[in-house]
Amino acid sequence: MVSRRIFLQSIFALAAAPFYIFKSARAMSIFKNAFVTPPLDRGMRKGSDLYFNLNLQSGEISILPNVTTPTWGINQPFLGVTLRVNRGDKVHINVTNNLPETSTLHWHGVKLPAGADGGPHQPIKPSETWLSEYDIDQPAATLWYHSHQMHKTGEQVYNGLAGMFIIDDEQSNLLNLPSEYGVDDFPVIIQDREFNDDGSLNYLGRFDLEKGMQGVKGEVMLVNGVITPTLSATKTLIRLRLLNGSNARVYQLLFDDNRSFQIIASDGGLLETTVTAKTIRLAPGERAEIVVDVSDGGMPKLLHRPGHDLMPNMNNLSIIQKIGMAIFENDDEVKTEFNILQIDARQATASDASVPNKLTTHVDLSTHTIANRRVMTLKMDSGSPLTSITTAILGSRDLMTINGKSMDIMRIDERVKAGSVEVWEIRNESRMLHPFHIHNVQFKIVARKGGLLGHETGFKDVVIVYPGERVEVIMKFPEFRDENIPYMYHCHILEHEDRGMMGQFVVV
Ligand code: C2O
Ligand code: CU
Ligand code: CU
Repeated sequence: MVSRRIFLQSIFALAAAPFYIFKSARAMSIFKNAFVTPPLDRGMRKGSDLYFNLNLQSGEISILPNVTTPTWGINQPFLGVTLRVNRGDKVHINVTNNLPETSTLHWHGVKLPAGADGGPHQPIKPSETWLSEYDIDQPAATLWYHSHQMHKTGEQVYNGLAGMFIIDDEQSNLLNLPSEYGVDDFPVIIQDREFNDDGSLNYLGRFDLEKGMQGVKGEVMLVNGVITPTLSATKTLIRLRLLNGSNARVYQLLFDDNRSFQIIASDGGLLETTVTAKTIRLAPGERAEIVVDVSDGGMPKLLHRPGHDLMPNMNNLSIIQKIGMAIFENDDEVKTEFNILQIDARQATASDASVPNKLTTHVDLSTHTIANRRVMTLKMDSGSPLTSITTAILGSRDLMTINGKSMDIMRIDERVKAGSVEVWEIRNESRMLHPFHIHNVQFKIVARKGGLLGHETGFKDVVIVYPGERVEVIMKFPEFRDENIPYMYHCHILEHEDRGMMGQFVVV
């Protein structure tokens, strides 16, 4: 009993008193680079039909001094161009694969027919072209697109197969929000990477078992492919469309001068009302739009300070969750603070934009009849050293499961009725957090024990589920029916997805 108490006390002490070491090994490029806005691609318009041609390509860029990095990208050497469409458009996207291996392109967050989703069932072989066509019928939002190749998503996204996808609508255009792309409205794709000495990306070796289990993290922070850049603000109100495009790292973002900012949108679009916050947590796959007031002409730095938000909510957690948190906290990375970007507002001129308190009205799903409830139990079996070795040699991927099953592309796990409202309870019975993602829907988080933070009150397609936690989400499935082609749900730590923490559902 005594030892148990001491064990718990030391865990809490650890969780309560984090100290931070600033990662400065790569400080040479910190804030020296100019912020790069990804090129905008608005497609070729014929009325409300919008045509895009995308090329998955390889290239080479210079990220580190004195070496170049072989990379992959979409219509550019590294990462994708920003696609921008309007609600009501019908998009026709030709994706040509000029890479040496099979890939896919998935439209993350878009409501669309299963055959157009770009998941593992729509592979594009080298030098082939895949046509994805669908109607944009959802509110303005910051979405993204990325490779979803079976067992290869982690590596392909790491190489650069990811970009931003912005939807506009009339209602949001009427708001006076900062909305001039590259002027006061910026995509911010945050990714951590590790490099080899020759400049190449260091993803994951076959025998990096631990790295594979934890998910791949790097200690070089990139924003739109540039190391910790400085954004020279020309306006005093800056809108940042934050996307955590990392494979595995969860970011706890805040400004070094502790200034507050306004959160206006989550994964699925605008929040009902603006939330003022000083920090925001984003798991892989999550997006949020924030507006920062820099009318003081300052030079605030956006930082990632792990664990920053965990304390206020600790009291609401169960013992098992606290232990889970403490284990997560105990991770080396928790004591490390990272620079993400800096805003230099010394030349900023007064903005005409403004952020209203009331942004939009959401449909109230809680009044709908719930057609079905499903439980998704997430588990990880790190296995004995022996199983780990067998895994490395035989490549078995049965260690990560949802409801006891590892992803099987031939097996349909769930059948959902088109147009119905369902509640899914995601249970994390592992010792790591998992960001759970569902294709084709935007859900609301019904409740979580630690409370809903800022953007979590809005529509979401990814939700963090901590160890021991159970999170309920409610959603209405769109009216696309397909008996044969499934959508995916999975952990958005890409190494977990690739190792089997993924399932398939059809909408009928
Ligand atoms: Cu962001 Cu199934 O993906
Ligand atoms: Cu997705
Ligand atoms: Cu996971």
